[in-house]
Amino acid sequence: MKTLANKAAIVTGGSRGIGRSIAIALARAGADVVVNYASNEKAARKVVAEINAFGGKAVAVRADMSRSEDAADLFATTMKTFGKVDILVNNAGIMLNKPIQQMSEEDFDRVFGINVKGVFLALRLAGEHLSDGGRIVNLSSSVTRLLFPGYGAYAATKAAVDQFTRIFAREVGPRNITVNAVAPGPTRTELFTLGKTEETIGQLASMSAMGRIGEPEDVARVVAFLCSDEAAWITGQIIGVNGGFA
Ligand SMILES: NC(=O)c1ccc[n+]([C@@H]2O[C@H](COP(=O)([O-])OP(=O)(O)OC[C@H]3O[C@@H](n4cnc5c(N)ncnc54)[C@H](OP(=O)(O)O)[C@@H]3O)[C@@H](O)[C@H]2O)c1
Repeated sequence: MKTLANKAAIVTGGSRGIGRSIAIALARAGADVVVNYASNEKAARKVVAEINAFGGKAVAVRADMSRSEDAADLFATTMKTFGKVDILVNNAGIMLNKPIQQMSEEDFDRVFGINVKGVFLALRLAGEHLSDGGRIVNLSSSVTRLLFPGYGAYAATKAAVDQFTRIFAREVGPRNITVNAVAPGPTRTELFTLGKTEETIGQLASMSAMGRIGEPEDVARVVAFLCSDEAAWITGQIIGVNGGFA
C-alpha cells in the first residue's frame, strides 16, 4: 500500500547515507521527493535516478542548509515543482569530533551552523509552507545520552535538535502537523565510518542489543512510518532507532 501517495517531501541531505535511504523509502511509499544536497551533485542525481527507476518522482536541489537564502530557495523550488510541501525531513548534518579544548571557534560555528541553524531555518520555512496535517522528522542522535569524550559539540547540536522537536511540536500542533525526531545509534554511513578502525566499529556494535551497527534502511523505515497517517498521534517524541544501543 502506498502510504504516502500524493504527498510532497523534502529530505535535506538526501544524497548520501541515511538521507538517501529516507528519500528512497518515502518515494517507495508514494511521495514525490526533493533530494537536497550541498555539494555532491552526482550522488544526488544517482538517488533521483534510483527513484525514477521504480516509477517514483524526485528532483535533486542544491542548497546549503546553513544559509537562509539557500533554505528559502529549496522551499520555493519545491512549491514550484510539486505545488506543496507535506513532509520535511531535517537530515542534513555533519559530525566534527574533538575534545572541547581543542575545538576552534570555526569548528563550533560549522557544526552548529549546519546541525542547529540549518534545522532552525528549515523549521521556520516549514511553519510557513507546510500543509496542515504535515509531518516533520528531525535527525537527532543517541550520543545525547552518552558521555563520549570528543563528542561535546556534536552531542550539544543534537540536544538542541531535541528541544526544537519538542517545542515546535507544540507550536504547530494546532494545525495537525507532527514533529518528531529519530535518534539513530551508530549507522553504516560515511559520517560514522570515516576515520574509525574496524576495532572501534566492533566495540560500538557490541553496545547494541543485537551486536551490530545500524543500516541506513533501519532508520529510513521508521521515518517513513512517522510520515504516514498511522503516526498522526505521535508528536514531540525523540525515538531511539538504535537496536538498544546504550
Ligand atoms: N551515521 C550515524 O551513525 C548517525 C548516527 C546518529 C545520527 N546521525 C545523523 O543522521 C544524519 C545523516 O547522517 P549520515 O550518517 O547519513 O551522514 P553522511 O553520510 O555524511 O551524509 C550527509 C548528507 O548531508 C548532506 N549535507 C551535509 N552538509 C549539508 C548542508 N550544509 N546542506 C545540505 N546538505 C548537507 C550531504 O550532502 P553533500 O554530499 O552534498 O555534502 C549528505 O547528503 C545527520 O544529521 C547525522 O548527524 C547519523
